[in-house]
Amino acid sequence: MENPAIATVRAIPELRAQVRAWRQLGLRIGFVPTMGALHDGHISLVKAAKSHCDKTVVSIFVNPTQFGPNEDFDAYPRNEAADLDRLASAQADLAYLPTVDIMYPPGASTVVNVAGLTEGLCGAARPGHFQGVTTVVTKLLLQVLPDAAFFGEKDYQQLKTITRMARDLDIPTEIVGVPTVREPDGLALSSRNVYLSQAQRQQALAIPRTLQGVAKRLADASDAAAHLDWGKNELLRNGFDSVDYLELCDAEDLTPLAHVGERPARLIVAARIGKTRLLDNIAVG
Ligand code: PAJ
Repeated sequence: MENPAIATVRAIPELRAQVRAWRQLGLRIGFVPTMGALHDGHISLVKAAKSHCDKTVVSIFVNPTQFGPNEDFDAYPRNEAADLDRLASAQADLAYLPTVDIMYPPGASTVVNVAGLTEGLCGAARPGHFQGVTTVVTKLLLQVLPDAAFFGEKDYQQLKTITRMARDLDIPTEIVGVPTVREPDGLALSSRNVYLSQAQRQQALAIPRTLQGVAKRLADASDAAAHLDWGKNELLRNGFDSVDYLELCDAEDLTPLAHVGERPARLIVAARIGKTRLLDNIAVG
């Protein structure tokens, strides 16, 4: 049976009119920002929004400002019809599909930057990336004005950066983190997994396996450096072309840790296989 269509809006006034009407009824609004190519990870955010809120808005916008000049903006998978179908099945209430001109009208010159948290890890490997993310997410939050917004732990540095940004700027939206959804074999779902050949898809399993292996080795609170080196070598030995980073970090402020201690820690990795950059992380300690 075909899904009933999901309501869509493409312009800010229509978006605001719909959200205002819901708010006047006293409804709580949840928001899930995405870049489309939706998979079960995105759908788990929709489910979380539906369980916390009365109405769920999902945005689909491939944000040019968070891609570097040599990154995959043009190649990024886009399939609006399939995405809308998935959102209808998941019973989201409204899809917001702005164009680049709506998000960045000529002369747009204001950016949002979160210092510190965005400088290491992916921030070091992708200059300008987080400024693109924080600017677009601020704009989306101000356009939708949701009560709560939902982000995946899959992009852990992004989740922590947006949480800090909302606090620092007094954005009246609760930022909610949602656990990573994985394939049955352990690979974290990602829109970029479609870039992988069959052989690379198998090799990519070295990421979750290595994270588990390093986490086990770290459990005795010994010095992390040797275990992290072991992990990087495991990835290279199993078909990865390069490792951007594999780090043990404080789970809140993302500062590097020399070993697992009292405070919650996170093991975070980004590595490249062919042209594809894969990202993953797990809690440790
Ligand atoms: P995108 O990569 O489409 O991801 C949208 C949201 O889905 C993010 O919060 C991301 O962490 C979450 N997500 C992705 N894979 C997941 C998985 N396997 N399990 C759980 N959640 C997952 O992240 C972005 O878009 C953009 O940077 C955005 C925030 C939309 C700003 O442009």
